[in-house]
Amino acid sequence: MSKGVIMKAIVFENVWKIYRASSGVEYPALRGISFEINRGEFVAILGPSGSGKTTLIYLAGGIEKPTKGRVVVNNVDITRMNESERAKWRRRNVGIVFQFYHLVPSLTVLENVLLPMELAGMWSKEERVKRAEQLLDFVGMLDKKDKYPLQLSGGEQQRAAVARALAADPPIILADEPTANLDTENKLKVIDLLSKANKLGKTVIYTTHDPHLANRAHKVIRIRDGKLEQ
Ligand SMILES: Nc1ncnc2c1ncn2[C@@H]1O[C@H](COP(=O)(O)OP(=O)(O)OP(=O)(O)O)[C@@H](O)[C@H]1O
Ligand SMILES: [Mg+2]
Repeated sequence: MSKGVIMKAIVFENVWKIYRASSGVEYPALRGISFEINRGEFVAILGPSGSGKTTLIYLAGGIEKPTKGRVVVNNVDITRMNESERAKWRRRNVGIVFQFYHLVPSLTVLENVLLPMELAGMWSKEERVKRAEQLLDFVGMLDKKDKYPLQLSGGEQQRAAVARALAADPPIILADEPTANLDTENKLKVIDLLSKANKLGKTVIYTTHDPHLANRAHKVIRIRDGKLEQ
């Protein structure tokens, strides 16, 4: 295998995602997308609402499968996997920050951060708790570790979600509009955390519709109507 291949974190090859409504109507959310992201890069995907950002993140994270084309993550063609293989693969390979947080409401902040480590069967219980507390300290949420998600502000929930995404120590962090519902101060805090994660060696990809926030990344990929803008 050549060195060039090993360096790639995420490769999209002519990726199409066509959603089918129950009425049978088809909607192409992604229309032939190709790009490559190297390991260790800090990349923003910039595009307006409905351009396909969430779809792209879900495909890169193996939550959804493309209708056509290949998605290769850390040299693994995840489009060849079935859903349960992808779910298992996801636990150790990608950390995802969702547009609307998706913390488990019945679990405390600490328990939410412990969950990915438990699912991946990583470390002993004491080590997991120690790591979760370190991560919550990293995102400035240690003092809120025993609170439940609904007792937190949007910014706090999103910072907890960043800690959760980092928990199982995946090489890639995918963040889907991690700042969408936050005020300016919290927006910058979350982007700062992603930048720090990148400096610690993670490949970080985040989506946004805000050119100013996109400019914090080292590279910007523009998307519109399911296609890349060159
Ligand atoms: N499950 C689905 N079924 C049908 N169409 C869908 C589905 N999910 C997304 N779409 C459509 O695909 C297009 C892209 O959606 P997507 O959620 O990826 O956009 P987005 O860039 O994330 O938008 P936003 O900034 O509003 O979050 C939209 O037009 C949307 O209506
Ligand atoms: Mg979206």
